[in-house]
Amino acid sequence: MDETKKTSKTKIKTVKEGLVEIAIPEFEKISSKAPVFYNPKMEFNRDISILALQRFQEEIKKSVDICDLFGGSGIRAIRYKKELKNVGKVSVNDISDQAIEFEKINSENNNMNLNLHQKEANVLLREFRGKFDIVDVDPFGTPSYFIDSLGYSVKKNSMVCITATDTSALCGTYIEPCVRKYNAKPNKTEYCHETGIRILIGFVALTFGKYKKYLEPKLTHSSQHYMRLYLKVKKSSKGTDESLNENIGYIEHCSKCLYRKSIKGLATDIDNKCPECGEKLTIAGPLWAGEVQDQKFIDGMIHELLFKNLRTSKKILKLLTTCSEEANSPITFYDIHKISKVLKVSAPKLSEVQETLKKEGFSATRTHFSPLGIKTECDINILKKIVYDLSTDSKNDFNYKKIL
Ligand SMILES: C[S@@+](CC[C@H](N)C(=O)[O-])C[C@H]1O[C@@H](n2cnc3c(N)ncnc32)[C@H](O)[C@@H]1O
Repeated sequence: MDETKKTSKTKIKTVKEGLVEIAIPEFEKISSKAPVFYNPKMEFNRDISILALQRFQEEIKKSVDICDLFGGSGIRAIRYKKELKNVGKVSVNDISDQAIEFEKINSENNNMNLNLHQKEANVLLREFRGKFDIVDVDPFGTPSYFIDSLGYSVKKNSMVCITATDTSALCGTYIEPCVRKYNAKPNKTEYCHETGIRILIGFVALTFGKYKKYLEPKLTHSSQHYMRLYLKVKKSSKGTDESLNENIGYIEHCSKCLYRKSIKGLATDIDNKCPECGEKLTIAGPLWAGEVQDQKFIDGMIHELLFKNLRTSKKILKLLTTCSEEANSPITFYDIHKISKVLKVSAPKLSEVQETLKKEGFSATRTHFSPLGIKTECDINILKKIVYDLSTDSKNDFNYKKIL
């Protein structure tokens, strides 16, 4: 239970999360204007981080030194120190006087010895180059201002965990801020959260590239109001060249007939007209057109979850199971309601569409990005025919592949 105490100056609230208990000054509204930032909704995010960091520690088989670059109340760093096995030094940083004060109180109250820093995040990253195995970047809004210093700072075989809450830019509600912050064009389609997360990874990959560092995405997800990336960092010029060649590209989309295609390469040929209906295509990118989930890593996290007693366990299991299924599936997904709208029919059940696709020999994976989405390599025209037949209850032995 949370408790509230009144001190002479300010009301202090106590919050329990995971295995720790922390004090925070009471505030009316969760916002960057709060004296010390704590968002109870991010418990889910912090719980997933515990699993991801433990899985990563097991993968690299050594004790890990961690930096929580934007510490706030210190809850994340204190939980990392207390709840993870094989942790070395944990550093927590924040620019704010009050945050540092509470990080000190909270680490002492939980008997956790943390290295406290009060530096601008870019300065800390530049000063502590090569010192951390894991850097957690959880700023207000966009992480874009910190990615260059992060690329300079992180060592090979380390992991970076990055949160972005500026989803309206990444998803294309506003185009210009995305161009300014991520040097990429978003596209407001039914799969805009996937495009957004790919723009974010692509921006990190292109920025890290100048330091000959490249990425292996372990887990990436879009949840609530934010996007979160867990990326392993590797280092070599050859590896970086190959990774950028293989993974950076664009997505072209037809808003009339819902055709879409991903293209790999930075300076590459992009079609202007939809090959299906002739409509002008819209383009998103540059973005990460490669794998965004590592199935083995995520399955390891699911295994780890079995040994934890977390309030968010059920929700985490649902997310991780879907992300694991999503691994190795095609880029973008189809929204069955959107297809039905284009066809002017009522939407069939998602499970029926999935079953039919599988029966016809196509993959049909659900996606954590949308409860109405299916990832499949099936051609849009075949998919439309399947959706149409299911919704109009057409009973035939149609060979869908013949309509190509
Ligand atoms: C979103 S909060 C961090 C929340 C925390 N990670 C958690 O899980 O509760 C962002 C924090 O970054 C701090 N901050 C903002 N700009 C900063 C900068 N340039 N360098 C270092 N800290 C900064 C703020 O004072 C705030 O405490």
